[in-house]
Amino acid sequence: MVSTYAEKESRRFGYAVHRYDRIPAPKDILAARPDIAILRFPFENLTQLAKTFPSEIFFPIWADALVFYRHDLKLIPTPTNSFVIRPAKPTDDSALEALVRRCFKDYSDHYLANPFFPSAAILDGQVEWCSDLRQSGEPFWVAEEKGELLGFLACRRRGLALDVALNGVDPRVGNRGVYTNLLAYALNEAKKLSPSLSISTQLSNIKVQRVWQRQGFLLEETFATVHLNCFLSNATDLSPTQAEARARILAWFGK
Ligand SMILES: CC(C)(COP(=O)(O)OP(=O)(O)OC[C@H]1O[C@@H](n2cnc3c(N)ncnc32)[C@H](O)[C@@H]1OP(=O)(O)O)[C@@H](O)C(=O)NCCC(=O)NCCS
Repeated sequence: MVSTYAEKESRRFGYAVHRYDRIPAPKDILAARPDIAILRFPFENLTQLAKTFPSEIFFPIWADALVFYRHDLKLIPTPTNSFVIRPAKPTDDSALEALVRRCFKDYSDHYLANPFFPSAAILDGQVEWCSDLRQSGEPFWVAEEKGELLGFLACRRRGLALDVALNGVDPRVGNRGVYTNLLAYALNEAKKLSPSLSISTQLSNIKVQRVWQRQGFLLEETFATVHLNCFLSNATDLSPTQAEARARILAWFGK
């Protein structure tokens, strides 16, 4: 089975959201009955999308293009920060929430491409994700100056590999090298924990990619994210547009 029911996203947005790590077969969609199917698959498979899910039936939403970079931790930059970088602690939680809200207020991710996902709920999702990461016990560092959090960088382990899961810098202190230093610090710490450090973002997020490239990260993989708004769960409160989408898709399945 290629589908995962996304419990948190479903609760947050009020739809049955299922995630797919490849382009599924149509029968997998019919079996899982998602309201919204989020497909994330290697970019090179994009040519298969419209052949599998006809555009005039599914109206796929092109939601983002993701780029994955990896650092082999051989040549690591030295931090030159004048501010403090330290592990996050529980007493940082409320400052972290405020920081995430400032960092991601105007952030364009794949949820934003779907008109059925309200932007306030998307930002709440970033806050929840940050809180989960802080409590996970995985590496999580903050930059601090005069008692104020300037930025954060949170990781998660995948076996031996280490990934940066979420990171950001307060826009009020942008372009001062806070991120450059936070990442340089993380690279030095990562070397003690893992053979590599990976990180990803939207293709359009050029600012972070410039920092990564200067610090020796190499582009490794590219993924496409596509949403299919199907409304196939048993929800009874569908709008006319949603009911029309459901009927059209079920008719295509011969149902
Ligand atoms: C993207 C983001 C992390 C950058 O943070 P930042 O602290 O402003 O980044 P830096 O200051 O290190 O680098 C930004 C620029 O400042 C320059 N800079 C200025 N002073 C600097 C210094 N003392 N040392 C290093 N770089 C400096 C850098 O060269 C860089 O220039 P460039 O954009 O021309 O390449 C921040 O804008 C952010 O949080 N954005 C929203 C969330 C986000 O995108 N998160 C990452 C998702 S993966």
